[in-house]
This record gives sequence, structure tokens and C-alpha cells, in this order.
Amino acid sequence: MKIVRSPVEMKKLSMTMQRSGSSVGLVPTMGALHKGHISLLDRINDTCDFSVMSIFVNPVQFGPKEDFQKYPRPFDADCELAEKAGCDVIFAPSKEDMYPENYCTYVNVEDITDGLCGASRPGHFRGVTTVVLKFFNIVMPQIACFGQKDAQQVLVIKRMVHDLNMSVTIDVAPIFREESGLAMSSRNVYLSDAERVAAPLIYKGLTDAVTQYNNGVIKTDTLINVVTTVIGQSPLLEIEYVELVDTLKIKPVTSVTSAALIAVACRTKESRTRLIDNIVIGGTL
Ligand code: PAF
Repeated sequence: MKIVRSPVEMKKLSMTMQRSGSSVGLVPTMGALHKGHISLLDRINDTCDFSVMSIFVNPVQFGPKEDFQKYPRPFDADCELAEKAGCDVIFAPSKEDMYPENYCTYVNVEDITDGLCGASRPGHFRGVTTVVLKFFNIVMPQIACFGQKDAQQVLVIKRMVHDLNMSVTIDVAPIFREESGLAMSSRNVYLSDAERVAAPLIYKGLTDAVTQYNNGVIKTDTLINVVTTVIGQSPLLEIEYVELVDTLKIKPVTSVTSAALIAVACRTKESRTRLIDNIVIGGTL
């Protein structure tokens, strides 16, 4: 496995691969790899000749009060995991190479970034789409894989690709869960023991709502109530939002008549860890 730091070198390597007829797949990450990330790499290795995983903790998607400084960066362990999983290249550029002095170009997907996580993390998606577009331009992948856990991110990136006539295919991988049901996240390392016990209630709430939906309940209020009641069983989980939105405009709907996303964000009381999770009903993302 090769580790490439320079965007210019990465682009050259990708061009060489493509000229020799190899398809290139990309898994963009911020590192602190877990099994969820590896499942994305597996999908790329199944469909592409050459796999690139980017590792870059992107400063422009963090708010001033967020965890950019303390975000885990176990780079050597990440490289070991990625290599074992069959990754061909780790692309890990520096902040200075990605955002040199006088950098002033950003990509903003409007409207669908206003709700859910966009409401509490202003500027977050602008940072995500900017860095993802840069990675697409540097790596030029045929396929890029993202996890469904960040459902709004997936929908925003898909919209950017569509609106800007880009040719990369976005592959969406199912949420990878711990045995408890807790969605895997690099931020789970922040959780206290008690919070780890409480956190699976989020998924339980979502699956209880799906059971209700499968039993014929389509009213949003009822389905949201199921989720909030289950999460409310633990005093360690503060709900930021539980919303049921359509998957096109990401706007609340009053009942489920087509593909809809039940999305949750919570903050834990002790470590103040932000946890998100979701489930899609009546269709796919
Ligand atoms: O999902 C993430 O880890 C990040 O938002 C991404 C897509 C790598 C962009 O920095």
C-alpha cells in the first residue's frame, strides 16, 4: 500500500491507473477507521480495480466550538487497518496543501443543507462538499463510497454531483453497527461506559418506529413519538432532533407516502458526544 501526501502526485497516479485501463474507487474518510469504514473499502475493492482511501480531518467542516482539535488521529493504526483490508493507496494531504494561503473557493449546496444537522452545524455541509469536490478532482474516481450513517451528507453529495454534472457514481453503504445496535462512529471513543449502555436506545427507537410503520402506521407524529419515547428512557441522552423527512428535499412530511428518512441526533450528557443515526422507510436513499 502506498501513502501519498501530495495532491499533484495523487492526481498523476490516478491518471496513470486510468490510462492503463484500471477503474479507480475512492473512500473519503477523516481517519480513526472502524469496521464501518472498512466495509466501504470492501465495496470499492469489489467494484474497482484500484482503491484509494483519503484520510484528512477537514478543518472547514468543523464549527468553532466543535471537536476539530481533539478529533482522533491514529494515523499509523489506520494505515495498518487499511492495508490489511486491501487498500491500494492512502491519500493523506496536509491542511496547507488542501487549503493554501489565499484559498477562497467553496461549494455550497443550498436548501437541503438547512435542516437536520445543517441547522445545528452552520457551514458544516459547505465544508464537506468543498473537500469532497476537491477529492473528486484530485482522485478522479469512477465510484466513491459513503456510509448511510451520514444520510444528509449522502443526499447533499449526491445532489452536488447531479447539479454540477459530475460523472462520479455515489455508492451508499448500509450503516455498520456494533452488536448493541449502536451505529459505528469515530466519535464513539468519547463515550463513557454508562453512555455506551444508553446509546443503543437510539437504534432501538428507530427500529420500533419501523415496526410500527410495517404495521401500517404512517403518521409522522406517531412514528416520531415512538423514537423519542424510547430514547427518553435514558437520562444520558439529550435529543437534538428526531425528524421524519422526505429523501429529495429533506423537508418534514406529515405522513410517509414515499421514501422517507427518520433521522436522529443526540448529545450525551457526560462526554457531550454527538451521535447521529437514521433509518429509511418506504424506499432507499
Ligand atoms: O464523513 C466523513 O468522514 C467526512 O464528512 C468526509 C466525507 C470524509 C469529508 O471530510
